[in-house]
Amino acid sequence: MKIIEIEGGRQLKGTIRVSGAKNATVALIPAAILTDEEATICNVPEITDTEALCDILKMLKVQINRSTESIIINPKDMNNIEITEKFSKKLRASYYFMGALLGKYKKAVMYFPGGCSIGARPIDLHLKGFEALGATVRNEKNKYIVEAKELKGANIYLDIASVGATINIMLAAVKAKGTTIIDNAAKEPEIVNVATFLNSMGAKITGAGTSTIKIVGVDYLHQCFHEVIPDRIEAGSYIIMGALCGNPLKIDNVIPEHIDPLLSKLEEMGVNLEIGSDYVIVLGSNKNLKATNIKTAVYPGFPTDLQQPFTVLLTQANGKSKVTETIWENRFMHIPYLKDLGADIEVKSQTATIIGPNPLIGTQVVATDLRAGAAMVAAGLLAEGKTTITNAEHILRGYEQIIEKLTAVGAKINIKEI
Ligand code: UD1
Repeated sequence: MKIIEIEGGRQLKGTIRVSGAKNATVALIPAAILTDEEATICNVPEITDTEALCDILKMLKVQINRSTESIIINPKDMNNIEITEKFSKKLRASYYFMGALLGKYKKAVMYFPGGCSIGARPIDLHLKGFEALGATVRNEKNKYIVEAKELKGANIYLDIASVGATINIMLAAVKAKGTTIIDNAAKEPEIVNVATFLNSMGAKITGAGTSTIKIVGVDYLHQCFHEVIPDRIEAGSYIIMGALCGNPLKIDNVIPEHIDPLLSKLEEMGVNLEIGSDYVIVLGSNKNLKATNIKTAVYPGFPTDLQQPFTVLLTQANGKSKVTETIWENRFMHIPYLKDLGADIEVKSQTATIIGPNPLIGTQVVATDLRAGAAMVAAGLLAEGKTTITNAEHILRGYEQIIEKLTAVGAKINIKEI
């Protein structure tokens, strides 16, 4: 197990550069097998989710050439074999191989994906989408066999604007015969980034970023060169850390419009920000923050992935704040640990009520999932004394070089294996 230790109460000063977006990268790597030529993807973060996907590529005999920040994927000699449970359960996004293999070979055999335990996380919408395109889905315990004689374009309405289902259906439909329309599609920037990648390989996708995506099937996808967008959740996490301890802290390589709801909430609370075209500076931590309420929602609403780190900031606001989680039913696992650190929080159903401000005092806490882990880091940076975060491997799934980035701006933080 990995453990992160933080000596809190230090100011963070300097610049943190944001890496490529995890949630785009984890779809782009499986998407790259849709061509038979070389796909070069730049700004790929070195996180354990990327490594886990590369392990699946290696298992499928896909050639990969990884250098700092970029990856060249060449699937010309690949084998479409079963993706075993050991590989699929390492991360949620392994399910993108279902859409990509189905799109390329009309057959995918793999096990139910893994990922953070933040809710039931069903994949029924993905499977209904594949079926609408003409595939049959067989489910033997945890194993899924998805196959089709021919994939034909279809009109698909998603009951929920699911990020995963939208991307997976795009991957399956890109080489199908005819036109596919996805209605009530999710609009996250990562979906636009994946559509741009596929279009640069010769796909015909329009409407990504809106709730209606049109995919006109093509026969062949060719080589391409692509850049991953900056990670809006990593950016938001460091901006929140800046609001807690920054003096001043610049977060560079940000697309501010991707985190509009966070920036608006911070300004409403009284956090002093300078927002540039591709950076955000937290000018200093404000000791007189106003309480506020947030409710998570699909993009462009307040992102669920920033809910946990944002809760830490609310423990420092004056008065009563409320956090309502609408996407995941089990995303308050960070709350008991924030209470151990000294926060006053009560959870009823899907709403947490936070009374602040309360000083946080370092203690031993757990990173129960990726973003809960980021919340623990944020809390540990602020808390007086030493905070020890166990199960820290969750954090390394999504934050590239977090120890190095925070150390460079003045944090006293280290990671060790026990
Ligand atoms: C993605 C992100 C995750 C983020 C989430 C919501 C990746 C790799 N992960 O997860 O960080 O928290 O979007 O912004 O991009 N649902 C169903 N059936 C389905 C699919 C989803 O009921 O077939 C439900 C889920 O249980 C959840 C909601 O739809 O309540 C949203 O899920 P979805 O957008 O699919 O999340 P992910 O793609 O798994």
